[in-house]
Amino acid sequence: MHRRLAGKVAVITGAASGIGKASATEFINNGAKVILADVQDDLGHAVAAELGPDATYTRCDVKDEAQVAAAVDLAVARHGRLDVFYSNAGVLGSVAPTPLASLDLGEFDRVMAVNARAAVAVAKHAARAMVPRGSGSVLFTASMSAVMGGTGPTSYSVSKAAVLGVVRAVAGELARHGVRVNAISPCGVATPMATRLAEEASPGVSLEELKRAMAASMEQVDAGPLIDPEDVARAAVFLASDEARYVNGHNLVVDCGFTVGKLFKMPQN
Ligand SMILES: NC(=O)c1ccc[n+]([C@@H]2O[C@H](COP(=O)([O-])OP(=O)(O)OC[C@H]3O[C@@H](n4cnc5c(N)ncnc54)[C@H](O)[C@@H]3O)[C@@H](O)[C@H]2O)c1
Repeated sequence: MHRRLAGKVAVITGAASGIGKASATEFINNGAKVILADVQDDLGHAVAAELGPDATYTRCDVKDEAQVAAAVDLAVARHGRLDVFYSNAGVLGSVAPTPLASLDLGEFDRVMAVNARAAVAVAKHAARAMVPRGSGSVLFTASMSAVMGGTGPTSYSVSKAAVLGVVRAVAGELARHGVRVNAISPCGVATPMATRLAEEASPGVSLEELKRAMAASMEQVDAGPLIDPEDVARAAVFLASDEARYVNGHNLVVDCGFTVGKLFKMPQN
């Protein structure tokens, strides 16, 4: 197997679950050493143990700049450098349908703190480690909700659009130092986050049932498909790798074409 990340050192936030866990797995399978950062300590330690000696778990609440800085410092202390910071931790916030006139700005601030403010902290501290070495790759998980209205709660959509704003704001400056900054925007992904959404919509439904129902009804309903976390993880491996050495300031949409109007079961041509 071609190991696309051989010898690279990465920090991945939100790595105890879902896309972050799948990414940590793909990164290690591709030769990287990974610091898994999360706030679910028991799960994070268990995932790291499962992934073996190239995985290290650390608690990192991305709302706290000092903890983001410490995750970077841990990578450097343990492995001598930081090649990739994948800022993936995120929260959906309240999924109860809320008219705009009733939007809770306290809730908005909480979602922005995890999804948007943390993205700035990650860019800042990844740059601190990467710029002096003249290389590195910073990745963010944004969302289709960053580019298409009506596909997520308002606070969530604004926070993910802000993630793309971070990419645009910092990629040019860091490009001059050999550091690339990119985002990945998935549609619905079969993770605990999606399960939570599904349970709000139809209590008791399993993720597999949800996937089948969404695929079956895609022609009728105005909803996105549900892909696997590994589909996102493979995009992350590409963007983190030297194969993407000229890809910078990009938002890689991984959504089966949903945001450009493709519905399932449409004719292929
Ligand atoms: N699942 C989807 O449908 C979907 C679609 C598009 C984008 N995303 C984004 O993908 C990313 C990963 O989500 P997922 O679907 O794997 O969900 P998930 O709930 O399985 O994983 C999210 C992880 O982030 C961690 N986390 C939450 N707050 C944190 C904090 N303050 N500090 C550190 N870690 C924290 C959680 O503990 C969890 O392990 C998120 O940014 C999410 O917004 C998800």
